[in-house]
Amino acid sequence: MKRVLVTGANGQLGLALQGAAKDFPLDLVFMDKNTLNITNANAVKEVFSTQSFDVCVNTAAYTDVDGAESNKELAYAINGMTVETLAKTCKQTGCWLIHISTDYVFDGTLDRSYTPPDTPNPLNVYGASKLAGEQAIQAVGGNYSVVRTSWLYSQYGNNFYTKLQAQLDAGKTLQVTADQEGCPTRAEDLAAHLLTGIANQQLAKGISHYCGGEVMTWLDLARRLFPNQKVSEWSGASSLAIRPKKVVLKNNNSSTV
Ligand SMILES: NC(=O)c1ccc[n+]([C@@H]2O[C@H](COP(=O)([O-])OP(=O)(O)OC[C@H]3O[C@@H](n4cnc5c(N)ncnc54)[C@H](OP(=O)(O)O)[C@@H]3O)[C@@H](O)[C@H]2O)c1
Repeated sequence: MKRVLVTGANGQLGLALQGAAKDFPLDLVFMDKNTLNITNANAVKEVFSTQSFDVCVNTAAYTDVDGAESNKELAYAINGMTVETLAKTCKQTGCWLIHISTDYVFDGTLDRSYTPPDTPNPLNVYGASKLAGEQAIQAVGGNYSVVRTSWLYSQYGNNFYTKLQAQLDAGKTLQVTADQEGCPTRAEDLAAHLLTGIANQQLAKGISHYCGGEVMTWLDLARRLFPNQKVSEWSGASSLAIRPKKVVLKNNNSSTV
């Protein structure tokens, strides 16, 4: 049975992987930021020298898109430099590195869906730091799969769905922006895609895309997720980080919204 390390285990995707774990014939070892802070190179090396892993799924990341604009160093440290250390350690130990990246590596100006070899051009610090991570993995080489995804949401952690639910619980009405289009992706579907791909040894090597099969705005998604609530369009101030207007990742395998 393959032994699989999952980093960032208390994040949205990490929790979705934990939720799906029992359905797969894999020996999954979950480490959160307290157990393994991936920016601590010595801790990473120690974990890999004292334990043996066939696969490492790196879900740990700095994911605050607006926060990254003023925390550039931290975003690059977690999403870029650290990923290089992880890639080198995986290569040295013969471990298959599966890393998650984002549609925000693209600028959204193409009038067709983006394929993995399309040229990235991130518009914000978060996207640039994630691109730095991708490039570090490619430069190190070894056995790797970089899976780009978009607009993750789920019942787990802090995300679009749970934030809106929290607003409803607090008695607020929902107001959501409609100025972006993308492909929302259920974190549970991505988790199943990754675990199936690991178990069957079928996950694409190199860079691939995985996202939901429908293009919509955040407003459309909110109305889909909360059909019995009034959701109006937010027309207030725009967010700090510039976001691409429309990125549709061309899927290797699409999921349902
Ligand atoms: N969410 C999306 O819409 C989306 C879209 C496209 C791609 N992605 C990518 O998908 C992956 C998973 O995203 P997600 O939604 O699960 O994000 P998330 O909920 O923010 O989870 C990331 C986890 O990484 C942890 N982390 C941060 N710094 C760390 C460190 N130095 N060492 C170890 N763990 C650390 C975070 O802990 P703290 O919270 O305690 O810092 C958090 O638990 C990320 O690579 C992200 O870039 C996400």
